[in-house]
Amino acid sequence: MSIIPYSDIKITIEEAEAISKSLFNIQGQVIELHGELDFNFKIKTSNENFMLKITRPSVDKNFVEFQANLLVHISKQDKSAQFPRLIKDKDEKDVSEYRDQNGQTRWVRLLSWVDGRLWSNVNPHSEQLLYSLGKKSGLLTRYLKDFDHPVAHRKFDWDINQAEWTLLHSDLFDENTKKKISHFQRRFLEILPELHKLRMSVIHNDVNDHNIIVTESAETPSVKAIIDFGDAIYSAQINNLAVTIAYAVMGKPDPLQAALCLLKGYHEVSPLQEVELELLYVLVAMRLVLSLTKSAINRKAEPENTYLLISEKPALELLIRWYNVNEQLATYGFRNACGFHAHPNENDFARWVGDRSGGLRTLFPKLGADKICPIDMSVSSTWMGNKKDYSDNYLTTLKLNKLRNKHLHSVVAGGYGEIRPFYSSDIFKKEGNNGPEYRTVHLGIDFWVEKNTLVHALFSGIVYCLYNNEGDKDYGPTLILEHSYLNDQKFYTLYGHLSINSLGLFNKGDQINEGDLIAYVGDVSENGNWSPHLHFQLMLDMLGNTSDFPGVAFPSEIEVWKSICPDPNVLFQSNSPAVSFVKNIDDSMDFRKEHLGKNLSVSYKKPLKIVRGEGAYLIDETGRKYLDTVNNVAHVGHEHHRVVEEGQKQMAVLNTNTRYLHENINAFAKQLLKTFPKELSVAYFVNSGSEANELALRMAKTYTGQKDMIAVKVGYHGNTNACIEVSSYKFDGDGGSGCPEHTHIVPLPDTFRGIYQGKGAGEKYVAHVQQQVENIQHKGRNVAAFICESIISCGGQIELPDNYLKVAYKAVCEAGGVCIADEVQVGCGRVGSAFWGFESHDVVPDIVTIGKPIGNGHPLAAVVCSKQIADAFANGMEYFNTFGGNPVSCAIGKEVLQVIEDEKLQEYALLVGNYLKDELKKLQKEFPIIGDVRGQGLFLGFELNGRDKEPLGEKASYLVNRMRDFAILMSTDGPNHNVIKIKPPMVFSKENADELICRLSMVFKEDFMQLTDR
Ligand SMILES: Cc1ncc(COP(=O)(O)O)c(C=O)c1O
Repeated sequence: MSIIPYSDIKITIEEAEAISKSLFNIQGQVIELHGELDFNFKIKTSNENFMLKITRPSVDKNFVEFQANLLVHISKQDKSAQFPRLIKDKDEKDVSEYRDQNGQTRWVRLLSWVDGRLWSNVNPHSEQLLYSLGKKSGLLTRYLKDFDHPVAHRKFDWDINQAEWTLLHSDLFDENTKKKISHFQRRFLEILPELHKLRMSVIHNDVNDHNIIVTESAETPSVKAIIDFGDAIYSAQINNLAVTIAYAVMGKPDPLQAALCLLKGYHEVSPLQEVELELLYVLVAMRLVLSLTKSAINRKAEPENTYLLISEKPALELLIRWYNVNEQLATYGFRNACGFHAHPNENDFARWVGDRSGGLRTLFPKLGADKICPIDMSVSSTWMGNKKDYSDNYLTTLKLNKLRNKHLHSVVAGGYGEIRPFYSSDIFKKEGNNGPEYRTVHLGIDFWVEKNTLVHALFSGIVYCLYNNEGDKDYGPTLILEHSYLNDQKFYTLYGHLSINSLGLFNKGDQINEGDLIAYVGDVSENGNWSPHLHFQLMLDMLGNTSDFPGVAFPSEIEVWKSICPDPNVLFQSNSPAVSFVKNIDDSMDFRKEHLGKNLSVSYKKPLKIVRGEGAYLIDETGRKYLDTVNNVAHVGHEHHRVVEEGQKQMAVLNTNTRYLHENINAFAKQLLKTFPKELSVAYFVNSGSEANELALRMAKTYTGQKDMIAVKVGYHGNTNACIEVSSYKFDGDGGSGCPEHTHIVPLPDTFRGIYQGKGAGEKYVAHVQQQVENIQHKGRNVAAFICESIISCGGQIELPDNYLKVAYKAVCEAGGVCIADEVQVGCGRVGSAFWGFESHDVVPDIVTIGKPIGNGHPLAAVVCSKQIADAFANGMEYFNTFGGNPVSCAIGKEVLQVIEDEKLQEYALLVGNYLKDELKKLQKEFPIIGDVRGQGLFLGFELNGRDKEPLGEKASYLVNRMRDFAILMSTDGPNHNVIKIKPPMVFSKENADELICRLSMVFKEDFMQLTDR
């Protein structure tokens, strides 16, 4: 047979135009599209678009009719016309005939056009999007379930049910890949008899990236339609889902979680059966095997075609990831997603085990205890305390002993379902589809008993395994027993952290009777350096493990794990077990809405419940760690142990007011004043930044005898009356009532976006300060104070122009006014080049206010001023502050300053800050949406804007919320809410900076972050 050259069979645009007109009476702009088998064209008319499909020569009409009938069948049920409709030709035919220039017959169809984007062009594939894909794919299965046609029963390589042919080609793969492919092929042969019993019908069979149409919405996209029915086949219905999963989860770090989102949507419209779910894992894998085998055959035929290699890469990567997913665990996950019990025996076992309480005396007969004393080791537990405390075995053992002595007839125990802080570490971390996840949920009960406590069997059974975690001192030996219940169903009990001498007691397969001595509890060295304890766990399935079994799980998988590892508390009559499966966050929100001030705000669209802080991280109730890039209050790191200890120690001894002499206040004042120029020699201690500014403003008024204040536009100085009066951020914002009579606002000296930009802008800005001084004087009054931050925070991390403060201070000073430097945000070494922000402007203020960082989270603030001002303020009226300057706060403040010095945090801020700023600038080159990068040290900011410099507040809000998904906390500021501010705890490392940049660049690539064309 002679092969016809492609140029001879190709349909030109002109031909397509003519066909459209002659067969359908439709005229419009014709655009050629890609087509694997057919020649496809988009026809654009003034009110509607169409898809014209023309076959190659010698295509069987039956095949074309099959697809046409299928579309007609769908249209009848698809009342909202989501899928493409078939349009009849002038002669009312679904399939029209066209004779090409060589006299060959071509079959022609016209379909309605579905607007939207291809799945392959959408980023990210959010959980909602996957869910909507599942729904659409399920809908197709539902629509097609009573459709049939002889062509659907053809032999077809891409049909998973017919995938046995791939066995002939496993030699095309390298050893590694072959091992995985052969594993899935073996499993496929094993499930084949079951597969043949499943529900069959015609399915789409090719829901891949290029056949899924997604809506245009970049923020909340959803799947609109699935197109191209060329691969439709009569097969097991579940295969349509298997194909959908196989393509949609490619490139996802956690393909199983992605598959579950999809499955939920699918099951909602096309309910799945338990027998189908049993096979789904292998069927997904077999679709990948089909695809990879096809590619390998093509590659062999065209070895020089490198594109083939590239195109199979995602499938190969997914094959490896899927292979690493435990098949049984995946199946339990599928069941759970569809509303079945994850483990089918969950209920049977619960009923059976429910009658077997009183196990404490069986497990530890020598202890004579029949009660549990519950212990809280959860992530929010104050019993656990600071990281340094709970990491200290000696201290923990002491605390446990104290508890044991107090509850002599009980066993200290707990932990089932508990989310524990020590699992929020890198060893328990994985990359999920939305950033890091940690295996934080404990699946067993820990009994905190003496070392060598005798452990007895709770049930008769056989030894499943007894092994030592060699090379892994953290766990010690573990014993797992296998038991039978009801109709020879199996369950398992696990005894962990045993002593080495438990090892010789049994061999695998040994018979054990209820009450037999089976092990001894290990010493500290066998317990991961923790106090001796027995880890006891129930399992309904060993998940294929022959030794060892996970003792902790990811919170996102907890429903599944709860079913596999039931709650053992029922065995021990524990009426108040420490079960802390994550509670519903909505409860906290509801209370807050009802009983707390309505104008308290909550960060993020999905609010966070934070329960612990550690260094640069905050940890939520699920044990997920968030990198904190915004909290300049936790200056030396969240819950820095030295600061915590100083506060705890002093609180245990004395806390009172400043009417008694105390060493702490003097020592703190001395340490603080050391950081200031000698002119600033008197300190007042207060409880918040607002209180500090309130006091500063009052001092200025007393000192000058004037009331008029000069402040900067969009500045914020606190929440008291006087502070609000100088905070344009508030009085010019929502709910504000405008500028008060005695306040005089100067423009925000923003040289990037403000009223003056570029060269000479600084002088123009500062002229406004001079002008306001004159304005006040023209009214026959004079200036009391000029209040300004050294880098303006709420205004959008605005660095002051050169000489701005110098000239402004001079003008104010000459008029007899006072200059207040608000260092509440930027002080204490944050700017890196100096300890106080004003120092880099070569000025000495009259009053400095200090807040947030100085207490590292404890409510502590200060006012430091010149002796002259302090003396004038002491005009006879006592200054009393109940809490200001108390010994506890002063102990904390002093320690914060000491830690800054000892850990060289100012130098560190300069180093890491400069590095981060440089990296942000590099990112700016790649993503022009970043309009400006600014700031100093670890007080940075970047601005998002469009091509015409328009501020993009919505995109900034999207970015912040997406970064939260990736476990990085950021926030926006500035008059247009388009500035992302970065002011992390000063222990923020270079690695943290890298992580931040990496995640930012991921989000900048997402659809919503793209700039629209001018
Ligand atoms: C620059 C500035 N000054 C003063 C304050 C008020 O401090 P506080 O909230 O501790 O009262 C703030 C608070 O954000 C601030 O940013």
